[in-house]
Amino acid sequence: MPEGVFTAPLKRPDHLGEDWLEPKQTEYDSDDDAIWNDLFARQMEVLPGRAATAFMQGLEKLDLGRGGVPDFGDLSAELGRLTGWSVVPVPMLIPDHVFFWHLANRRFPAGNFIRTRETFDYIQEPDVFHDVFGHVPMLTDPVYADYMQEYGKAGWKAMRHNRLKALGSLYWYTVEFGLLQEAPGDIRAYGAGILSGPTEVVYAVEAESPNRIMLNVDRVMRTDYVISDLQPTYFVIKSFEDLYQQTVERDFDRLYRTLDPGFTYANTAVIDVDDVLHPGTLEYTLRGGRGSGAKAV
Ligand SMILES: [Fe+2]
Repeated sequence: MPEGVFTAPLKRPDHLGEDWLEPKQTEYDSDDDAIWNDLFARQMEVLPGRAATAFMQGLEKLDLGRGGVPDFGDLSAELGRLTGWSVVPVPMLIPDHVFFWHLANRRFPAGNFIRTRETFDYIQEPDVFHDVFGHVPMLTDPVYADYMQEYGKAGWKAMRHNRLKALGSLYWYTVEFGLLQEAPGDIRAYGAGILSGPTEVVYAVEAESPNRIMLNVDRVMRTDYVISDLQPTYFVIKSFEDLYQQTVERDFDRLYRTLDPGFTYANTAVIDVDDVLHPGTLEYTLRGGRGSGAKAV
């Protein structure tokens, strides 16, 4: 396993049950609340006009800017009214089968801890800001909420066919790094990995470097991804209905039987069948990406 890649621990911490849920949410102090507020304010400088309308509306519906780390009970009460979802606290990344089981039951497991000032700009393990600010607003959208549940159900099939990597790609290119075409020429981000940090929002939506390709579920599930740098390629959906339909109508049993165990396409590839919205220059990636000093343009 490459250094710095976080995975769920093999052993469940002693105080947790089989659902891996914390008995209650962490109590945050005023420093923690200040970190949330500062992260929130920083995102609000870059998100308007770049984040999907559904995401911005979700922030408002859940009043995530009320100040301090949100209470999961309050969020769950509101989300429950809107789409029947809840937010439940977990200590860290949890095993895949547990994660899928929660999603399939419309529970979103959210990291309990919040980053420190030292790790303010970049953390690899998802904290409460990434999980709640990044993911939860989209769960107020009824169609997206259904998609997330279907994803959880698809997880069980992927495990039976030993094709978790392929399904992981779908999560990556939609839930974490998905783009939406709200109108011709109007590309917005809805993926939590993009929306919870300050750099990738502008890059994903506006930069020349990355490819932007219309999403096709089969194609995406054959495509590799990088986890520690800006993406060379983003996949764009026409609507959340489109994403939902592509997922529920696809016979995943059949698809998994035709997929190779590894990935067929590099994350920089543009292939014949792609409907390309923006052919990227790949300048950022080819110059060496993060750590090379390349500008995210
Ligand atoms: Fe995430």
